[in-house]
Amino acid sequence: MPEKILVVDDDVDTLRLVGLMLQRQGYQIVAASNGQQALAMAMAEKPELILLDVMMPDMDGYEVTRRLRANASTASTPIIMFTAKSQVDDKVMGFEAGVDDYLTKPTQPRELFAHVKAVLARGRKTSGPAAPAAPARERGYVIGVIAAKGGLGVSTIAINLGISLRTRTRKDVAVAELRPGEGSLALELGYLNPEGMNRLLQKNPAEIGLKDVESELLTHKSETRLLLASYNPADAKYQASDAHFEMITRHLSYLANYIVLDLGPAISPITDKALAVCDELILALEPIPTTITRSQLLLEELAGRGFGEGRVNSVLYNRQRSEMQFSLAQVQKEFKHTIGIVFTAAPELVYQAARANVALVTQHPDNLTSQQFFKLADSIAKRVRTKE
Ligand SMILES: Nc1ncnc2c1ncn2[C@@H]1O[C@H](COP(=O)(O)OP(=O)(O)OP(=O)(O)O)[C@@H](O)[C@H]1O
Ligand SMILES: [Mg+2]
Repeated sequence: MPEKILVVDDDVDTLRLVGLMLQRQGYQIVAASNGQQALAMAMAEKPELILLDVMMPDMDGYEVTRRLRANASTASTPIIMFTAKSQVDDKVMGFEAGVDDYLTKPTQPRELFAHVKAVLARGRKTSGPAAPAAPARERGYVIGVIAAKGGLGVSTIAINLGISLRTRTRKDVAVAELRPGEGSLALELGYLNPEGMNRLLQKNPAEIGLKDVESELLTHKSETRLLLASYNPADAKYQASDAHFEMITRHLSYLANYIVLDLGPAISPITDKALAVCDELILALEPIPTTITRSQLLLEELAGRGFGEGRVNSVLYNRQRSEMQFSLAQVQKEFKHTIGIVFTAAPELVYQAARANVALVTQHPDNLTSQQFFKLADSIAKRVRTKE
């Protein structure tokens, strides 16, 4: 588990900047923009360190420190006071209130990291093994579904795989569509205007906490939990919000046993961030030469990002029954990567399922395509069990 740091500042730009800098160093960040919020967050989130601003409108940092020190559950949480006040008196006042260290703004990132590391190391030594640990959540297994271009069935695969994993393993499953403005699952599953993802995207990325993401998950009747993208084209503006998705996907990875991410086509900036939490990828391709060429290039890109042969499961996803398409043997000749599963086209059934606002595997579990989804889910569950 990464160490958690609570950053407190009434200036949103500072919050965002400091939050992102520390996040890039691998820390988990929670944020508060006033004194009251800081006290509440310190108790609820039990951070390993608090980076605290002094001048805030509702309650200054000295008062926040005194109150933290007076409360048993936060009395020993390390605090670094972080402020533009640089007079000796100000520092002395901070130490008297109970802070552990002092940093003056503006600070160099290197200096900030050095102080954070040193104070955290001291905290680890003094708290010892008997310290009451916050209940740690276990990280789930994250599967990203991707394709070289749009329309190849990525969303259909993501939702049917999610529901199949739930059906076969009975574990907690979450499915997230990382395509703001281009969602298709909400309409197919009968949700009008899902706004949860947009609410997260309107926050300051450093302020997106585990609980925020958790509270935006919808529970579908299939018992999977869903983070659905808006289908309003205007919301595609959020596709530049990769810093938000970095936080969202990181939290999501702790919110279920299996997490299926609909990454959509190609490697967008959002996908690039989401790949950091993926354990394996499912690459969907169709039996058409130009798509095979593009899929081959996608594979090379993914290999460069640490997703080599062993971490990518390529599936041939047929959406049409046609004599004009390549056979598996022909595809396999062109595509230099083993194809794990071949899905049979089921245009009528996929259409009917969407009309009834359910997924294919729910409406037609005995159909051959559904059976292939269950098989894929079983093979993933087996891989996870052998890793455990
Ligand atoms: N097994 C299938 N057989 C036939 N048609 C299918 C099948 N699965 C999905 N489709 C159809 O293919 C189309 C694309 O599917 P889907 O929306 O899942 O793809 P996508 O890759 O997520 O697309 P986008 O890039 O637009 O998000 C849809 O019209 C869907 O109904
Ligand atoms: Mg889609």
